Amino acid sequence: DMPVVGIDDLAIYVPKLYIDYKDFAQARGIDPQKLEYGIGIRKMAIADTNQDPACMAANACLKLMQKAHIHPQDVGRLYVATESALDESKALNSFVIGMLEQVYGEGSFEHAGGIECKFACVSGSYALHDNANWIRAEENSGKAAIVIVSDIAKYDLGSAGEYTQGAGAVALLIKEEPRLMAFDPKVASTVIKNEYDFYRPFGKETPLVNGGYSNLLYLIQVRKAFDAYKEKALKTGLVKLNEGEAITDHIDFFSVHLPYRRMGEKALAYLLRHEWRHLPRWKHVTKEIGMNEPQPKDPRGTIESILADTDFMKADEQFRRAFMQTSFYNETYEKKMASSLEASAQIGNLYTASMYMGLRSLLEFEFKKGTDLEGKRIGFGSYGSGSSAMVFSGIMQPTYKEIVKGLDLENDIGDRVKLSIDEYERLHRKEIDFNSAVTKAHKEFVLVKLGGSTADKAGFR
Ligand code: CAA
Repeated sequence: DMPVVGIDDLAIYVPKLYIDYKDFAQARGIDPQKLEYGIGIRKMAIADTNQDPACMAANACLKLMQKAHIHPQDVGRLYVATESALDESKALNSFVIGMLEQVYGEGSFEHAGGIECKFACVSGSYALHDNANWIRAEENSGKAAIVIVSDIAKYDLGSAGEYTQGAGAVALLIKEEPRLMAFDPKVASTVIKNEYDFYRPFGKETPLVNGGYSNLLYLIQVRKAFDAYKEKALKTGLVKLNEGEAITDHIDFFSVHLPYRRMGEKALAYLLRHEWRHLPRWKHVTKEIGMNEPQPKDPRGTIESILADTDFMKADEQFRRAFMQTSFYNETYEKKMASSLEASAQIGNLYTASMYMGLRSLLEFEFKKGTDLEGKRIGFGSYGSGSSAMVFSGIMQPTYKEIVKGLDLENDIGDRVKLSIDEYERLHRKEIDFNSAVTKAHKEFVLVKLGGSTADKAGFR
């Protein structure tokens, strides 16, 4: 008789500044087609001088509370998950509560609790599940939890990571009997291993990143977590597989970590190959491709040894590209993933928030297509460098339309201001004073002064 718990509602905040991929490509001497198709980016959101991950988190949270008619007394936990924290010991959610109390009154959240969570891009998923379990354990005295995922993805100027930047926050309301989506119980699965694919040492604003390694590790870790998920799903009876079926056939939509759009497409390809290669349908897939799947020299080797197996890597890439051209892949992709990738191309990487922005995108664009989402299962593949992956799933509830019908990404972001590459670079180098913000704040939290007690730096303007 475990309570049914899940995501009741969600709200986003995205900074209004952006850079356009064509301007960026020209400035860096890159073929714009590489960014549009190879990466899948058209606009990257950039934070203004007076915005930080705490302000974005508070803005998303305020929107959520107003939209869902939630008051501070209804909230028992307020967690913030981020890769771009502001202080070492002082948690980001304390800043957020400081800001919200400017609106709701001092001490209005005193009864609640919460922490900041860190594990690159996956920590929001842990926060979501720990809070769902807090409610399942009935420790919540009837109160809801809010989990906010908020990040600024910032890479070095001129680096390969620079075209996978972005900024924004998503606030999620976790409740019993959720209106939007209920988590499938007892199947959330994780893997974890000490790795250095992407990390940001103390005091460094931009990460050290091994791009190719991070891509492969993402695919492998999510696949391993998916294997564990599958085992639990079969054991608990959540899913029953008929002859010739894959567990992916029982997942109606996929929402995965999205450092950039193309990475989502690749993650789906990797997962489908893994799940399909032992099934009768694989014969038809390889027939359409016209070649068999290549094998590494040492299939049990380490990631490094597989990366060093250049013949295999080359053949595998060729096979992967061909697989992504097949009708089998494309049908699944169009039906189960494409809608979740729209926002990523318009905003960029949001680290912790990217998969949840993907969920938001999926809901909006499937609804606009007229898809009936009731009872549909969404499978999530969350990844955080360093590295850990979490796979879980949820079922869309009969009341989902209440939440989904009003979603409009463009309207939610508001009128955007395109930065010249020169302005963007000056922002990146912090050469513009925080008083000279490019945009004017409109009923939102922004930084209003520098120095002094950090908690007093932000104001509602
Ligand atoms: N027209 C069309 N496509 C083109 C092209 C052209 N003219 N030129 C190149 N491309 C394609 C390439 O073929 C490639 O496509 P496939 O993916 O289908 O193979 C794609 O553009 C990317 O090009 P490269 O393979 O040359 O990659 P890159 O050197 O540009 O680097 C990156 C890409 C590794 C993602 C880099 O941007 C990076 O390091 N980003 C930061 C790290 C990151 O995002 N890693 C993702 C996994 S880790 C993670 O997810 C955690 C996190 O959030 C950081």
